[in-house]
This record gives sequence, C-alpha cells and structure tokens, in this order.
Amino acid sequence: MRLRQINLEDCERLAASFTKPYHQNYFAMYSSVLGGVVIHPFLMTVPMDDHMVHRGDGIFEVFKCVDGRIYNLQRHLERLDRSARAIYLQLPVGLEEMTRIVVETIRLTGQRDALIRLFVSRGPGGFTTDPYECPASQLYVMVGRLNGYPDAFYSEGVRAKSSSVPVKKSYFANIKSCNYLPNVLMKKEAVDNQVEFTVSVDENGFLGEGSTENVGVVTRDGRLKLPRFSRILQGTTVMRATELAEALVAAGTLQDVVFEDITLTEAYSSAEMLLFGTTFDILPMVAFDRHPIGNGAPGPVFRGLRERLRWDMYENPAAQTPVFSKGARRKA
Ligand SMILES: Cc1ncc(COP(=O)(O)O)c(C=O)c1O
Repeated sequence: MRLRQINLEDCERLAASFTKPYHQNYFAMYSSVLGGVVIHPFLMTVPMDDHMVHRGDGIFEVFKCVDGRIYNLQRHLERLDRSARAIYLQLPVGLEEMTRIVVETIRLTGQRDALIRLFVSRGPGGFTTDPYECPASQLYVMVGRLNGYPDAFYSEGVRAKSSSVPVKKSYFANIKSCNYLPNVLMKKEAVDNQVEFTVSVDENGFLGEGSTENVGVVTRDGRLKLPRFSRILQGTTVMRATELAEALVAAGTLQDVVFEDITLTEAYSSAEMLLFGTTFDILPMVAFDRHPIGNGAPGPVFRGLRERLRWDMYENPAAQTPVFSKGARRKA
C-alpha cells in the first residue's frame, strides 16, 4: 500500500474527524511554539524535533486548580526551577510570567476544577542528543479534567506492593524530568498485579516512593516516618503535610515527624501507611505486599492529615493562587 502524503490543506478535514473518547478530558493547551492557546485536540501537539519528545530532555510539573484556585503553585514552581537548574535548562519565561500564562489558560477554559500539566522542553532543534542544537526552550501547559479518586480509596484504603523496578540514581530522582520510564513500569506493575500502587525499594532494602507519589509510615510508637529525599522526588504534598502534621503532634495524635530510612519489615508492622500526591492529596494504604497494615483500615493520622490538607486547599488563601474570583459562576 502506498503511503498518502498529507499536506496543510488536508489538516482541517483531518481535524474534523480527530475525536477520541479521552479528548473529553482535554480542555486547552498553551504552546509557546504556537504562541497561544489551542482548544482543539488536533492542535495539542509538540513538534517531533523538540528534544523533549525524542530524548526526554524536558521537565514537568503537575498541579491542580480546585474551585477556582491553584493549590500549592509556589512549591511546584520552585521545584520546576530546581529541576531546570539541575539540567542546565533556561526557563523560556520567568516564574511570574509562567503563572500568568497558566492562570490565563485556565480562565479561557472556564473550568474551576482542573489538572494542569506544565512542561518545559529543551525545544525543537534537530534530532541528536546535543542540547546546544536547540535555540530556545519551550513551554507547554495542558489543562485537563481533574478526575477524583473513588471515595472508597479514602474510606476503605488502597493496596500496594513493593516494586521490582530499580530505583533511580539520586541525582535523577530529584529532577522531575520527562525521563519517567521507571515510573511508567511501576504503574504497569501495579495494574498487572491488581493493586492500586507500587512502592520502590532501594538496594539496601529501604522504601522509596510510588510511581508518582510519596510514601510514609506511622510507627507503632506514633512517629510519622518519611524516607529521606536522597533517592526520591521531594513531593509538594508530603512537604506540606509535614508542616500540617505539627498540629497533630501538638494534639498528641503524633509524637514526631522524622525523615529516616524505612525497611520493608518496619513498613509491614507499622500502625499506618500513607501515600501523598498532588492528584489525590493523601491516601491510607491498608495492605502492603498482602500484609494488613495496622488494623487493616484507615487510621487517625490519615484522617487528621487529610482534614488539614483539605482545609489548606479550600480555606487557606496563603496556599492558593486565585484564577477566578470567589463565587464566580462556572461557565456552561
Ligand atoms: C516520582 C514522584 N514522586 C512523588 C511525587 C509526589 O509529588 P507531589 O506531591 O508534588 O505530587 C510525584 C508527583 O508527581 C512523582 O512523580
């Protein structure tokens, strides 16, 4: 069969029939390559010669807009900045301008609740590994539907297993780069094993992180123990949770919050296991490698932290970047 040549004039016709069920989750995309925002999924593209596509040479952040306010944006942008510095990538615009672009793009969608995926790429510039081939870095901001997790995940808990995928070297683990192959394989492992999450384990047998989430345990003597960030990504959610946990320490629900190595045996016999991440905030893990955790049900530290994280998201202006004014009506 001969391949058909597709020209620019064919694009309108192709765009008209370019609909997939998952497109309903895509609201808008800003692209610095195009210099504006596109709504049609056919136009939500990244050039093939952008080094982010063919070499994974780019960084990203995922954050959410909840009831018209972006949660924890500052922390996400600080991490983006750290990732950019680590790979010598110059951001195409400053963080303030980036915030303006993000806010404007969400506004254009009229959606008060959205998940935002922001990418900074090395940019188009040929197909070698040489980053100097690319004249300018690029920004892509994808605004999509914020799909919540099932209520049962919070009320009954989730199950996880330890992963067989090797952990990243610390230098790379701390960069939120577009090299997420180990994370992809961890997610696949979870799906294939019919558990909700998998958790990496390093060469010394210490707990690492989930595919896109941090993990922590509550010890039998009431300490919230989190893996040190030397081999894992420093999550914005877990960092905020440690600050909010101070109230739980003051109330006596927790004794302390510490960053220490956690062995598998310690995890199996812990009072609670917790997962932290932007999309779901916090989840109770009630079984790990088929070991019931605590009494096999969500515990008091989970409940206390979830309540405080929700307060932070909905009630704490210091943690929010406004997109719409309070009470503004959703667009139809
Ligand atoms: C590898 C990895 N660890 C942890 C996290 C949790 O980070 P955050 O709380 O900022 O979503 C993520 C989230 O993107 C991640 O990709």
